[in-house]
Amino acid sequence: MAQQLQEQKKYSRIVNLYYNKYIIFGEKMPWKDKNIIKEVLNTREQFDISTFVETGTFEGIGARFWSKHFDFVHTCEIDEKRYNLSIANCRKYKNIFIYHKNSPEFLAEFKKKHGDISVIYLLDAHWDDYWPILDELKTLENTLNCSILIHDFHSPGQGLGHDKYNKIRLNMAYVKDYLFKVNPNFSCYYNLKKYSELWSVDDIMESDVLFDSDSVTSQKYNWSNKEGCKRGILLCTPAELKNTTLSNVLTHIG
Ligand SMILES: C[S@@+](CC[C@H](N)C(=O)[O-])C[C@H]1O[C@@H](n2cnc3c(N)ncnc32)[C@H](O)[C@@H]1O
Repeated sequence: MAQQLQEQKKYSRIVNLYYNKYIIFGEKMPWKDKNIIKEVLNTREQFDISTFVETGTFEGIGARFWSKHFDFVHTCEIDEKRYNLSIANCRKYKNIFIYHKNSPEFLAEFKKKHGDISVIYLLDAHWDDYWPILDELKTLENTLNCSILIHDFHSPGQGLGHDKYNKIRLNMAYVKDYLFKVNPNFSCYYNLKKYSELWSVDDIMESDVLFDSDSVTSQKYNWSNKEGCKRGILLCTPAELKNTTLSNVLTHIG
């Protein structure tokens, strides 16, 4: 009987571990692409970045992920319900700061308070009629020490997922006038599909860093829609990025 109980406990521990780990890469977790994560951490190392700033919190799952890799995460969400849910989801993460704000206002306040420190900005606020990306970049004008990551960006010729609003594609042509006012010397990079690699169940099971005991949801979507989960990015850094698998963007101002 005792042995049976012990076996049961062991089994339930494994199930919990398995189940809880899944959320991080489940339906709600946009950071399914190992290569993008690797490049963000590469940027962190090279530019000595300790703060991750995100626009568009959604449910705070991405923020929780990045909080394991940066000293501080600041993130803003415009939608009240999502903001409240994020607060609840992140309550145990003392290095995450969540703001209920429209992203350009949040960025203006962040910049006023922290100045031009070495941070990485993930610009990921979208889905509403108002698409704030250009206003966000405008707010960041003349912020020479930052790096910028834009998710769901068109990486030409790659067939990776990206966004379109009112038939406007999220691409270099759309953002470049604003982007190079943030830093005229930005080095800019796209990701390549051949390096896009989703986490497997085994990776997740083996990973200590990414374990999150609070979360519960389904992971099925990831593996049922592998191609849809492969998304384009634009990464801009204040100087040339070393040891990267990303492809240099050849566009310049003008
Ligand atoms: C793609 S989700 C963000 C995912 C999140 N960054 C992550 O990695 O888990 C986009 C979010 O941006 C929010 N959003 C849309 N417009 C916004 C704005 N102007 N300011 C702040 N958040 C906004 C949406 O409500 C939505 O939750």
